[in-house]
Order: sequence, then structure tokens, then C-alpha cells
Amino acid sequence: MERVIVPDSTPEDVGFENSLRPKKLEEYIGQSRIKDNIRIFIDAAKLRNESLEHVLLYGPPGLGKTTLAHIIANETGSNIRVTSGPAIEKAGDLAAILTNLQDGEILFIDEIHRLNRLIEEVLYPAMEDYCLDIIVGKGPSARTVKIDLPKFTLIGATTRASLLSAPLRDRFGSTFHLDFYAENEIQQIVERAAQILSVAIEPEAAQEIAKRGRRTPRIANRLLKRVRDYCQVMGDGNVSQKFTFEGLDRLEVDNMGLDSVDRKILAAIIEKFHGGPVGVGTIAAATGEEEATIEDMYEPFLMQIGFLHRTPRGRVATQSAYQHLGVEIPKGML
Ligand SMILES: Nc1ncnc2c1ncn2[C@@H]1O[C@H](COP(=O)(O)OP(=O)(O)O)[C@@H](O)[C@H]1O
Ligand SMILES: [Mg+2]
Repeated sequence: MERVIVPDSTPEDVGFENSLRPKKLEEYIGQSRIKDNIRIFIDAAKLRNESLEHVLLYGPPGLGKTTLAHIIANETGSNIRVTSGPAIEKAGDLAAILTNLQDGEILFIDEIHRLNRLIEEVLYPAMEDYCLDIIVGKGPSARTVKIDLPKFTLIGATTRASLLSAPLRDRFGSTFHLDFYAENEIQQIVERAAQILSVAIEPEAAQEIAKRGRRTPRIANRLLKRVRDYCQVMGDGNVSQKFTFEGLDRLEVDNMGLDSVDRKILAAIIEKFHGGPVGVGTIAAATGEEEATIEDMYEPFLMQIGFLHRTPRGRVATQSAYQHLGVEIPKGML
């Protein structure tokens, strides 16, 4: 069955997501502490007439990192150029991007943790002193030439800040950690999206989508889209409570927002490894899911809702996970 809760964006999402993406800070729901800080540093840079300091955004997929990068560009009236870690294959690729920037432009590097170390090193002087050190010639006659760069702002986004090297992390003026949204914030996001899509939605329907939306805007919006389609086919097009419940059940997203893969992961830990602790590599082997996928996409939410703990010895399923799967809690755990 097609996965609806994967927080990564799929090609199908792109147009849909762009249409729903807030363009201004005030339209961006939730993350209020981050918004306040961004507002302050934008205003401060404007007052000093300087370019913005470099910004690192990190957090699980689908929480609004790309959206924030574009909002920062929009609010400062800066042009934004977009690339990603995997797209930059050689140090020369990055040098070409940097030398083509204009003063005051924003360079957005998505998945910045996937830049390799040699390429990362090009960024250090670029971020710190706005220059590039280029080696000209070979052997004993080789020398370094400094090239000045425009005053640009780097915005990096990553799902895992721990994978960035310390020198790179240190060169960001501010780092913002996006966390999962509160359920009522997700409900507002769903209601806002419904409005943009011009569909009427009952509050109970928006609430239920929020409840099953993994506290993640991308997933909640995607569920809304599926439910809207279902309501169009089954009913009069309005997103009603009744068809929302039915539609969501058909998508096999349960009342905690878990899908079959989440349940498979938890079941493996509980049934095959007595609830853990068990290493993520072993869980990957037991479930047939990739280790990185488990770490980036599943674990953060399972930990957020208290179904999974990370310990030095491995992952442990909690009592709530046992209860949710309807498995008797072992005596030793009580
Ligand atoms: N705070 C927010 N308010 C409203 N919509 C949001 C918010 N954050 C994210 N979204 C929606 O979720 C979608 C995914 O966000 P995105 O910025 O692409 O996530 P990320 O880059 O972190 O994976 C966007 O299309 C946007 O419509
Ligand atoms: Mg993104």
C-alpha cells in the first residue's frame, strides 16, 4: 500500500505544497519562539544595514524548514538560491555557486549534512570571511589565491544536526531547532490549508486530521488532501466528520498517527527483542526498513509520543507502546 505518512516530500507533493506554503512570518503557524527570534534578527540586520547572519534550521522532515528559509528571504526582500547537499558533487560546484551570488542574496542548502567534508571546507572561509581559497598550480609551485565573495547569507537545513562537523555548525550565527507541533497548531494548519483549497471542513474533521497527522504539517496537509478526495467521491465535497474518519481509516493511519511501518517497528522490538534494548541496525534487519529511514522518519515521532526510548544500549519500547499494540506488558516492566 502507498505510504501516506512518510514525512519526506514526494514529487506529487511539490505543486501542492508550494500552493500551501506560507509566505510571511505571520502566516507561519506555531514555532513561536523561533518566529520571535527570526523577527528580531531580521530587524536587527535591517537596522545595521548588514546582511543576515548564517542560519541553520534543523528538525525532522516536514516541519517547515524549507518554508522558513523562503519566508526569511521574502521578509528581507532577498533573492534566494536553492541547492542541496547531494546536488553539490565537487568543491568546484560549490565554488561556482558561491562566486555567482550577488551581495545580500541567500543561499539555501537543503540536507546540508550530506555535503562531503572536502566540500564543507570550502564553506568555512566563505561563511566566515566571505572569501574562497583556491589552489592554483600543482606541486611545489602551487599557491593559494584568495577570491572575495559577495556578502551572502547561508541558510542550511538538516534533519540531523549531529551529522554536521563541529566547525561547520560553529559558523552559523543562529541555529533553530524545529520541534513537532502541538495538535491545535496542526488543526489550524489544516484549517488554513482547507481555506486555500476552497473546501469547507467541519472542526471535528480538522481535529481528527490533526490528531493523526503526526504533529507534522506536511503529513497533516497530505491527509487533508486524501480526505478531501474521499469526501468528493463519497459525499458532497465538504470535509465532514463522518467521511474524514472513514477516509483516514482506509489509509490505515491509526488514532495516534501511526501507520503499518511504525507498528511493524514497535512489534519487532516487542516481539522479537522482548521490548529492547536493541540496536537500530538490528531493528532495520528485522523489519526490512533502512536504518537511516528509521532514524530520520520514524523514531523522532515515536519518541515524541513516548512509545520509544533511546538508551546507550539501544532502543526500548515503552509501556504505552505495548498498550497501543494491545500486547500484555511483561511483569518485569510494571
Ligand atoms: N508553520 C507552518 N504553518 C503552516 N504550514 C506549514 C508550516 N510549516 C510547514 N507547513 C506546510 O508543510 C509543508 C512542508 O513544509 P517544509 O517547509 O517543506 O518542511 P521541511 O523543509 O522541514 O521538510 C509546506 O508545504 C507547508 O505548506
Ligand atoms: Mg525541506
